[in-house]
Amino acid sequence: MHFRAIKNDNVLLCFEKGSWLQVTNLIFGRITNGYLTVSEWFKGDCRGIENKEMTHVKTALKMVLKGRGTQMKYGKIIGKGNTATVYEWEEGTVLKLFVNGYPKNAVEREFLNAKAINGMNFAKPKAYEIICCEEQMGIIYDRVEGETLLDWVLKTGDLQGCAEYMATLHKTIVQNRVSHVPDYREFLKSNILNAPSANLMEQEEVLEILDRLKDGDTLCHGDFHPGNILLSNGLTMVIDFMNVCHGDFLYDVARTVFLVEYTPVPTDADDRETLLRFKKILADLYLIEMNVTREMIQDYLSVIIAARVGECPNEYRGVR
Ligand SMILES: Nc1ncnc2c1ncn2[C@@H]1O[C@H](COP(=O)(O)OP(=O)(O)OP(=O)(O)O)[C@@H](O)[C@H]1O
Ligand SMILES: [Mg+2]
Repeated sequence: MHFRAIKNDNVLLCFEKGSWLQVTNLIFGRITNGYLTVSEWFKGDCRGIENKEMTHVKTALKMVLKGRGTQMKYGKIIGKGNTATVYEWEEGTVLKLFVNGYPKNAVEREFLNAKAINGMNFAKPKAYEIICCEEQMGIIYDRVEGETLLDWVLKTGDLQGCAEYMATLHKTIVQNRVSHVPDYREFLKSNILNAPSANLMEQEEVLEILDRLKDGDTLCHGDFHPGNILLSNGLTMVIDFMNVCHGDFLYDVARTVFLVEYTPVPTDADDRETLLRFKKILADLYLIEMNVTREMIQDYLSVIIAARVGECPNEYRGVR
């Protein structure tokens, strides 16, 4: 058998952990993490490969012939988040591949949310299918060109411009009405109950505030921050639909203020003080653009802060 390496148009076949990955009959690499790895390419013919390894290749080929394994096509990495890596995929699409072992129900929720809002009136990539391979799952989305608004604002320092981009897009999102996605209060409640209840009194108080918050059928993105907005030629699009929900529009505004201003900056970050100042100014400018005051979101923010401990137990609450 003769194998040659090609770099483009990778057709990847996924098998069991430790078995071999065959690529268009021409490239293969070993599956080390239960999925696939492109770090171990073999170039040239396979005569340099040990017999034992050759057995794996033959097994893999047999599996292909028997139609086992999942056929995947992907190219280079185009983005990375905390939960997933995004790869080039076929015909103007991307594969958002979640980290190994990421909960299946969470990926399914993102997919269902993305499908629920596919037809709605704001700029976003369309979701096509959900892919499951061993413990890893992925979603195929339209590919969006451009850089994240976060990269843009770090590069330009234009906080006012960033706030305007955010508010313009957010206003178009919250104009939509939706009911077949989770209720924002359920999301908050389950996270509050999930938080270590060191102070039951405090938990009770937070649940009471939550009970008084308004119901609503406004489409809330749930994770609307500059890292989830892509910018190209002055046009913005939103991505990342794991926490889409319905509720009062002030919830989504408060959630954005939380994500922009309250999430921690690592203690060893360069220019930490400047970054913290920028975060606060950006949240202020965004609120002005949204015509919302701090007072209007105060209760939402208190509940969001309390719920965050259950949502991200490892995020150090005191660091700001
Ligand atoms: N449809 C897309 N088209 C082009 N690039 C994308 C697309 N979706 C995601 N990306 C890129 O991949 C990065 C990570 O995507 P995404 O935010 O969906 O991942 P995540 O792991 O859910 O992120 P988070 O860290 O917010 O949880 C984005 O910042 C962006 O650069
Ligand atoms: Mg993201």
